[in-house]
Amino acid sequence: MDIQVRHATDRDGAAIKTYLTDLRAEAPDTLRQRPPPGPGEIESWLASKLALDRSFILAAFDSGAVVGLLDLQAGQRSDNRHVARFGVSVGRASRARGIGRKLIECALVEAKAWPELCRVELECVSWNTSGLALYQSLGFEIEGIKRKGVNFRGQPEDDVFMAMVW
Ligand SMILES: CC(C)(COP(=O)(O)OP(=O)(O)OC[C@H]1O[C@@H](n2cnc3c(N)ncnc32)[C@H](O)[C@@H]1OP(=O)(O)O)[C@@H](O)C(=O)NCCC(=O)NCCS
Repeated sequence: MDIQVRHATDRDGAAIKTYLTDLRAEAPDTLRQRPPPGPGEIESWLASKLALDRSFILAAFDSGAVVGLLDLQAGQRSDNRHVARFGVSVGRASRARGIGRKLIECALVEAKAWPELCRVELECVSWNTSGLALYQSLGFEIEGIKRKGVNFRGQPEDDVFMAMVW
């Protein structure tokens, strides 16, 4: 496997748009359903993330194509600056090859170097067994279950809150 993980920049808009178009068309039941990216949507999203302090998007590339994305952002106020939150996805054809793990490990190395940061958190639907196994194996712990907190599959189901603190 020759996967490169690096920060996404404003020059990656087209590759990210292709990736997200495919992911949204797949519509995995572990993610909120979203329409295909509209004109300018990805460019504005990238620009808004890149403009923030303590925020980054990591992209995994395979032969120039984006095959995974991780979006991490720390709180922007003095009362939540010590907390970061992320979301991650890997394209269907590239799953179970260690890319999700690699993205999260890279993100943790970078975020753990930020002054004051001492918590990284995430949210994951309760039926996402591969995601839950991955997060737990990296040291995230379940803090709580928001019972019937999401409706991704036609009925209210549980949402899981996980975090790592140090
Ligand atoms: C969840 C997701 C990001 C994991 O990424 P991935 O690249 O497939 O995961 P990895 O290959 O790095 O797997 C790491 C671990 O996940 C677990 N895992 C992965 N695939 C699994 C599967 N099919 N069944 C059970 N566990 C699995 C294992 O614990 C694995 O550990 P290992 O490295 O010791 O084998 C990916 O499946 C995905 O994008 N799913 C759809 C979108 C989504 O659900 N995003 C997360 C929302 S919270």
